[in-house]
Amino acid sequence: MRIAMIGAGYVGLVSGACFADFGHEVCCIDTDQGKIDALVKGQIPIFEPGLEDLVADNVRGGRLTFGTDLQEAVRSASAVFIAVGTPSRRGDGHADLSYVYQAARDIAGAMHGYTVVVTKSTVPVGTGDEVERIIRETRPDADYAVVSNPEFLREGAAISDFKRPDRIVIGTEDGRAQAVMAELYRPLYLNQAPLVVTSRRTAELTKYAANAFLATKITFINEMADLCEKVGADVQDVARGIGLDKRIGPKFLHAGPGYGGSCFPKDTLALIKTAQDHASPVRLVETVASVNDQRKRAMSRKIIAACGGSVRGKTVALLGLTFKPNTDDLRDAPSLAIVTALQDAGARVRAYDPEGMEAARDLLPDVEFAPDPYACAHDASALVIVTEWDVFRALDLGRLKHLLLEPVIVDLRNVYDPRELERTGFRYVSVGRPLISDSRSDRAMA
Ligand code: UDX
Repeated sequence: MRIAMIGAGYVGLVSGACFADFGHEVCCIDTDQGKIDALVKGQIPIFEPGLEDLVADNVRGGRLTFGTDLQEAVRSASAVFIAVGTPSRRGDGHADLSYVYQAARDIAGAMHGYTVVVTKSTVPVGTGDEVERIIRETRPDADYAVVSNPEFLREGAAISDFKRPDRIVIGTEDGRAQAVMAELYRPLYLNQAPLVVTSRRTAELTKYAANAFLATKITFINEMADLCEKVGADVQDVARGIGLDKRIGPKFLHAGPGYGGSCFPKDTLALIKTAQDHASPVRLVETVASVNDQRKRAMSRKIIAACGGSVRGKTVALLGLTFKPNTDDLRDAPSLAIVTALQDAGARVRAYDPEGMEAARDLLPDVEFAPDPYACAHDASALVIVTEWDVFRALDLGRLKHLLLEPVIVDLRNVYDPRELERTGFRYVSVGRPLISDSRSDRAMA
């Protein structure tokens, strides 16, 4: 089947490469000539494990092409995916749909024969109706259906999420479109991935509901972590204790510095706005978004406390800047709020990240960047693990202790075992886990 993928960003590129890998013929279109030129040369503009090889294999196999000519790609396609950006609109937090609507206009002008237009971008409820209207207005004679097919790809695991999804959500009431979508995803549902076929509006809302629920789960365990610190309980045991209940499930219960990234912050905000517009506020999600925002800043207070109450004139070493490992993405990363707050408190910040430093140089101009974790720790008053990259999981603790000015580690991702760190002579602060020394002194008091 021939597919035109409009937008060669994160979602478009991953989805396009995966569809090509299933044997479909995919042309990824983008208005950014520089990006297309780079892709043609095999240069992938984002860091995503496995993507470079997947793209190269499918380009070599002749199933995946790149270009800027939307008209030509759409004319010969049976399915056209809209995978353009929907950033938060400045000022009001609504999703900015101008790229989606422009794509709809361009597609309408080029469609030939029955065409299924699929919104892959995360769009507010009702956007599919508007896309349908725009196409009808531009091309009253067109034979087409507009389908919502939200993506549930996690950065860093996007290829396996695409190829082994928990489910595929398809929003359309058009029988022909359902058949086209089923054909596109045949390799997956043959592989037992459930197809959830719904109305278009339901599919659009399902995407927001999924992300808001996951953001809520994370925020819940983060608040439990704070409480654990106060009452001397261990949040990892709480997470395991509740997660084994099948109604709750073990995933997304890792306490940390708050969620970031390109999806949760933007999508929770857009859902809040949509719900307010329909006079049906999602108060729980409103609270989640605000608790999460405050949490990122609160992490800097935790670091300052671990440094004895002040970081003025001290160097703080941060390991990890991206919003999570295996990505180079810093959008809404907790590190951004933490760095700013530490600098406001008078600290010098030095940082190391395996993939995020290029992007960080523009966003965090006053940060000193180190070539590796040990150079980062040199003469610093505290080492802070902000993102749980695998390379930070087995650091040489003896060497770090020697390099640091003071043996302080603040582990915002609970990577290390408190016992081991305290045994090595560190003052170790993590998230929602009691300090061994504190519990000993509690026992002594009792
Ligand atoms: C998310 C959704 O998982 C995906 O389905 C959707 O399509 C896009 O948004 P992504 O943003 O790539 O994917 O990353 P994810 O792994 O979900 O993590 C999001 C944030 O939550 C990260 O900052 C991560 O560190 C944080 N997180 C996640 C936690 O703090 N604790 C957890 O238990 C899980």
